[in-house]
Amino acid sequence: MNVFDLFDESQRPKAPRIREATEVHRSAGRKLAMIHNMHLSALDETRAMMDRVQHDEDAAKSLAEHVTSLQLWENYRKFGNLCGRECQFLDFHHTSEDTEIFPAIAKNASEGLRRVIARLSQEHSVVHQLLEKLATNVADLWSDPSAEHFARTRETFEVLDKAIRSHFGYEQTELQEAIGYYNAL
Ligand SMILES: [Fe+2]
Ligand SMILES: [Fe+2]
Repeated sequence: MNVFDLFDESQRPKAPRIREATEVHRSAGRKLAMIHNMHLSALDETRAMMDRVQHDEDAAKSLAEHVTSLQLWENYRKFGNLCGRECQFLDFHHTSEDTEIFPAIAKNASEGLRRVIARLSQEHSVVHQLLEKLATNVADLWSDPSAEHFARTRETFEVLDKAIRSHFGYEQTELQEAIGYYNAL
């Protein structure tokens, strides 16, 4: 699977309704959306910093404002730190789903639900490749805080951000009943 397949909604299996699931189960399942929202806020924060760095870079180029190369250098590094930290959080989140939440559901789930879990695991591997790419970009930006390395990091971040939002939305919708019903979180 490549990253473009991940955005193809028609390829994503839907979870069959669990007839015995109650509102208590669904409410427990909504905890996943809360965890996702925490990550989305961190991505928003990373994007806001990225935009500030871009603004300073543009200002330095056009000489519209006084931005020194030292300030830019520091900006690149600060952004690299924040981005690297968020990469680790996301990696941790997916590992806990892969090793705890998904197996707890799949153990007793219907065939249809298992297909959703298989699809989500495939999406994790695509996201993981993006996280690894971003970590490499961040390491390059850290060792050589240049406009070129910033541009590459920004490019990967944009793809990752889109992929994560799409993945989170699918996952929290399709697993909402199952997480509570199978007591998986
Ligand atoms: Fe996930
Ligand atoms: Fe998740």
